[in-house]
Parts: sequence; structure tokens; C-alpha cells
Amino acid sequence: MARLIDIENRPDEAIAAAVSALADGFPIGLPTETVYGLAADATNPQAITRIYETKGRPRFNPLICHVATLEMAERHAAFDPLSRRLAEAFWPGPLTLVLPRRPKSPIHDLASAGLDTIGLRCPRGFAGAVIAAFGRPLAAPSANTSGKISPTSAAHVAADLGEKIPLILDGGPAGVGVESTIVKVEGDRLRLLRPGGVAAEEIEAVAGRPLIRPAASGATIEAPGMLASHYAPGAAMRLDAAAVSPGEALIRFAGAAVAGEADAVAVFDLSPSGDLAEAAANLFDFMKKADATGATAIAVTAIPRTGLGEAINDRLARAAAPRP
Ligand code: TXA
Ligand code: MG
Repeated sequence: MARLIDIENRPDEAIAAAVSALADGFPIGLPTETVYGLAADATNPQAITRIYETKGRPRFNPLICHVATLEMAERHAAFDPLSRRLAEAFWPGPLTLVLPRRPKSPIHDLASAGLDTIGLRCPRGFAGAVIAAFGRPLAAPSANTSGKISPTSAAHVAADLGEKIPLILDGGPAGVGVESTIVKVEGDRLRLLRPGGVAAEEIEAVAGRPLIRPAASGATIEAPGMLASHYAPGAAMRLDAAAVSPGEALIRFAGAAVAGEADAVAVFDLSPSGDLAEAAANLFDFMKKADATGATAIAVTAIPRTGLGEAINDRLARAAAPRP
């Protein structure tokens, strides 16, 4: 069973234990501001293979590599003025930039899936201190079994992967709650590969240009995390619900009353005050809790699509998609 260390009470011990496990080539549960990551040395092929084994990921997707600083990022990818402007505006924070990889970067091909680009992000909070102490980038997908809901607490990670990894750092609930926004920089064009913790509108304001959205259906998959069914709870998900049926659990938003509520198995409000950032932070935890009620289905009311609502709706759509 994984050792759990509370980073607030024992930060030095947490960093020392993390550096030691990472140096031995093991993945660890690492809190970031978005979700908990399953983090391993991005330069060590065995460590990266262990990430895939631990998650039960069916195949090798490119992983996001996490850095402590922009300076560290520049050793692994080529930044132009536009990508540097975005990094300076949003790092540390929930933005991943897909950039041309530097040929001499020691990040292993297994982390970048042999592509000539690399996904880099500089997380906010304690993860940065761990990366700085380790001195090398950390590849880190979300710390959950492949296809399941991403973890936003150390307890989520322990329940899912605790038997498979040596260490989980406990940083409390993840503040953002959805994964990072992924943007691919292609010359002066910016492509939104995944909506996430930074609202697309904020990026567009800094970049002074629109983000190119993924084409609807039939497009080639650029970010494999964009595969349709993902984040799946056990119960069926029913979106844009106007009413809830007996036997169903309800996830609603902004305190809005929903027909049939009194007979729902359980009712969760993502943000009674209608704050999308609070809703994003609660989303995965409430999906897990709604699922744990044993409800036949989880009915979810319509959530606004602006700002962080874009990422929330993206994750809900994936959770509701037909399962493979
Ligand atoms: O918030 C997050 O981003 C979390 C936390 C742990 O940092 N991490 C995360 O990583 O969501 P992961 O590995 O689950 O998601 C990686 C996504 C995948 O969809 C992958 O295809 C895409 O990033 N990606 C990574 N490198 C890429 C590249 N070079 N080109 C295109 N997509 C890339
Ligand atoms: Mg994931």
C-alpha cells in the first residue's frame, strides 16, 4: 500500500520521499492544481512504462511533461515569442503548450510517443517544488485507472492505485478540478486540443487571436485524451436533464430546482452560487459520489458553456459517451 505524506505538515519529508521514489524509477501520486498526477521521471523509459502499466492504458499516448520553470521548459522545447507570451501569462498554472521538441532534449520518446512535438506544463503549487528538487521533468497523466474519472484528492488516488505505487503526496483537494487546457502552437496559429482549467477566452485575450477548435466528427485525433469515451462512471450519465426520475442521482448547478428532485437518490449542486470555477473543482468528486450511491443513472442539468463551462461540458460529454 502506498505511503501517504501530508505536504502541509511534512513538506521536507514529502520532497525527500518523492525524489527518492522518482530516482528509483517509480511513479508517485502527485497533487497539482488541476487533478492528481501519476508522475514519473520523463527521461527514464522504465519509469514511463510503469505509468502505462499502473494506469492500464491500452497504448502509448504522448504524456504531458511537467517542468518547474520556463527556463527548464526551454531546454526541452523551442519557444517563439507567442508561446513565451502564453507561458509568461499562465505559468505556473493549468495551461499545457504543445511545442516543437528540441532534438537534444533528454525526455524519452516513450513520453512524447515519438512525436516531434512535446506537451509541456508548469504546474502551480507543491508539484513545482518536487520537480525543482528532482531536477528533471516529470511525465504525469491523471492518477487513475485508464478510462475512469480523474482524481481530485489523495483519497481518490489511494482507492484506485494505492496498491500499485509506493507513494502518494497529499495536498488536499485539487483547486481547479479539471485537467489543463492544451494548446498547440503552430507558427502564428493556436489550436485548442483540449479545453481545461484556463478558459479559452482568457488565452485568446492574451494571444490576441482566436483558438482554432477541434473539428467536430471524423477528425484525426490529435490529443488522444480527446477519445470520445473517457472519465466514465459506472452509472449511465444523462445530460441536459430537465427532470430527474426515481432511482437516478442528480447533479445540478446554481441552485436551480429540478422536477422530481424530492425522489432522487441524491442531489449534488456543483455550485449553489453559480460559480463555474467552483463547479469545475467539484465536478469529478461529485461524479464519483453520485456513482457511489448506486443510482441507475446520473442526471445532469445543463451547465453554461462559457469560460470553464467549456471544459466542464467536455468532460460531461465524454462521461456520457457510449462505452467501448
Ligand atoms: O492537468 C493536467 O494536464 C493533468 C495533470 C496531472 O497535470 N495531466 C494530464 O495529462 O491530463 P494526460 O497525460 O492525461 O493528458 C495528456 C494529453 C493527452 O490527450 C495527450 O494526447 C496530449 O495531452 N498530448 C501530450 N503531448 C502531446 C503532443 N505532443 N501532441 C498532441 N497532444 C499531446
Ligand atoms: Mg486522464
